[in-house]
Amino acid sequence: MSANTYLSSSNQEKKHPGIFITLEGPDGAGKTTQLRIISKELDAINCQHIITRDPGGTAAGKQIRRILLNSNFPLSTTAELLLYQADRAQNVSEIIRPALEKGLIVFCDRYIDSTIAYQGYGRGLCLKTIETLNKISTGGLKPSLTLLFDLDSEAGLSRLHPGNYDRLEREALDFHKKVRDGYLTLAKNEPERFCIIDASAPLTNVQSAFRKALNERLSINLPDV
Ligand SMILES: Nc1ncnc2c1ncn2[C@@H]1O[C@H](COP(=O)(O)OP(=O)(O)OP(=O)(O)O)[C@@H](O)[C@H]1O
Ligand SMILES: [Mg+2]
Repeated sequence: MSANTYLSSSNQEKKHPGIFITLEGPDGAGKTTQLRIISKELDAINCQHIITRDPGGTAAGKQIRRILLNSNFPLSTTAELLLYQADRAQNVSEIIRPALEKGLIVFCDRYIDSTIAYQGYGRGLCLKTIETLNKISTGGLKPSLTLLFDLDSEAGLSRLHPGNYDRLEREALDFHKKVRDGYLTLAKNEPERFCIIDASAPLTNVQSAFRKALNERLSINLPDV
């Protein structure tokens, strides 16, 4: 059965004038840090954009994010998967799609590939089911560019404070290795959408690689600093 069978006609992917970019990669890879920096640089050249995050980009999503990342609440893997999708459905309809329809650049800190990497490759849930749920929650909205901040699992986790580890960060190293391998498989399968950035490099080198990818894709000219 095609995944579209699950979608109502009003929920089908529509064309939009905006540019949708997602940031993916293991915990501690530097996604959020890089987004903060690039946002200031885009503001400086009056390049209109918004930044959202998955999970937690909307008011409802913030509540969902608290449940998802707080390891004090037990969650079954299915409940976890569906909460991520509920958050995403709200973010797409409330924030992402309206901004794209206005012609804005939208950056989303994690998106569909996180669920495939973490819940699929990491937790071992059925990849086909996750793909179907991703299509339902997003109405088929895919990014035109996905930057994969690639980093060795140990190196990523070592950048974070163990005392603040969230539900996923607390998982064993083996889980994180499966997540990284999952991401690399996704990038290999869709090379036209993915751009892999070496996130193990010093901050300024990662920034340069991020800028270069955006300049090429967005046809803008962010100066290298
Ligand atoms: N290239 C880098 N080299 C060294 N440290 C870095 C680099 N990039 C980011 N960091 C540091 O690593 C930590 C994690 O960065 P950040 O929160 O941006 O990662 P993230 O990819 O958003 O992680 P998460 O998936 O957990 O949200 C921060 O303390 C940040 O300052
Ligand atoms: Mg982050």
